[in-house]
Amino acid sequence: MNPSLLTKEALAAFAAEQRGAFEAELKKLVEIPSVSADPARAGDVRRCAEAAKDLFERHGGKAEILETEGNPLIHGWFGEDASLPTITVYNHMDVQPANEPEWTAEPFVFTNDNGTYRGRGSTDDKGPAVTAFFGALAARKAGVPLNLHFLWELEEEIGSPNFEGGLEAHKARLKTDAIVVSDTVWITRGKPSTPAGLRGLKGFRLTLETADHDLHSGVVGGAARNPLSELIQLVSEMMDGDTGEVKIPGFYDEVVPPSAAELESWKNSGFTVAQFKKDHMIKGLRTEDPLELLTRVWGKPTMEVHGVVGGYTGPGIKSAVPARAEVKVSCRLVPDQEEHKTMERIRAFVRKQNPDVEVHEEHGLAPFKGHVTGPYAEAIKDAYQFAFGASCSFTREGGSIGAVKTMEDQLGCEVYFLGLSLPEHGYHAPNENYDWEQASGGIVAFARYFQTVSGIKR
Ligand code: BES
Ligand code: MN
Ligand code: MN
Repeated sequence: MNPSLLTKEALAAFAAEQRGAFEAELKKLVEIPSVSADPARAGDVRRCAEAAKDLFERHGGKAEILETEGNPLIHGWFGEDASLPTITVYNHMDVQPANEPEWTAEPFVFTNDNGTYRGRGSTDDKGPAVTAFFGALAARKAGVPLNLHFLWELEEEIGSPNFEGGLEAHKARLKTDAIVVSDTVWITRGKPSTPAGLRGLKGFRLTLETADHDLHSGVVGGAARNPLSELIQLVSEMMDGDTGEVKIPGFYDEVVPPSAAELESWKNSGFTVAQFKKDHMIKGLRTEDPLELLTRVWGKPTMEVHGVVGGYTGPGIKSAVPARAEVKVSCRLVPDQEEHKTMERIRAFVRKQNPDVEVHEEHGLAPFKGHVTGPYAEAIKDAYQFAFGASCSFTREGGSIGAVKTMEDQLGCEVYFLGLSLPEHGYHAPNENYDWEQASGGIVAFARYFQTVSGIKR
């Protein structure tokens, strides 16, 4: 190992020198529309896997495309010395659709505006992936004694339906001492945070059919059942639309409230309600109290109505009684809630309130409880401090990353988070972006992290 290549100055110089290469690699990946939700993009998803493999190979690494029942996994690595520790970096290469009308430029054309990189996937999660990759190049150059592995998923944005099966099939080649995930958001610029937990997610649809076809409301209205109003009523029995409180009996029973230490850490995380509103261009909130807000987003489960389908939606009014309707709902879950228990409660409630309503479940993700102590957690804190000169807070994320719990369970090691995205980068939003400040600092942070964990006794 050559420590003179691992000083902050040397690593920053490495990042600066690699800037053009970093931007070119990110451009290549962002310009492949690897939208996992769109079956028409299957060819692009495959092309993305091949481009990723090529990236490792062009930079002196090895890579393979691991098949699953769905989209493949990309496994790339530098070093395979069994006497050395192994660390694996997880990112996802699939992206959300980008049909929003507010895009000011083509979503799959990479633009570089003085170090602001725009395009779908730039921050979620291709930018952080390429950042970690260049951090690994820096660590390699300095001779950090570590096997550096990468596992890039292509189905994260659809809830990782084939990830568990894929890991099961290939786990012998994926043995690792620890995993670091870069797919989370800071509190704000200059205020890194690392999650001590993620919420899970369970989606379901409620459907109701009360006739064979739409009917004339003047002929049958008053006597005929209306599936749309029955579903709206059911939803309002399930939850309070104003407060968000879920009224399903037992729904909150297994929720573990945040500890006093967690609340203290959240309080000192640099979070402000004003910044939150600004970052998300949000017009109204259910609370203006910062700790209450964070508890709602990180520490409590939710029930959210995403869509109502049914009836006439054209111009004006058509006075028909609809024959069928659907409501799309999901719940974010927190430790120690269980998907199956939650769904059982929801099913029992629906059966009681309106036995004709059918409940259709989507693939679910378990909540995740993370680790805040020990050498790997200390290495995360040290990496942020070293690279960005700022202390990181242990927070939680309200979002979900299906792969995290699966990796812990299947690979038998712990998962930590070294995220680099900022709220204003706009996860899933139009004009999603990433920037060189986060990328250059991130390269330094990852290199430092690799150096530190290479010294952890196994
Ligand atoms: N990177 C996010 C997870 C995330 C969200 C982390 C918010 C921190 C804050 C991930 O790509 C994501 O969007 N997950 C989805 C999964 C879903 C589509 C199955 C989510 O949370 O909705
Ligand atoms: Mn992501
Ligand atoms: Mn996402």
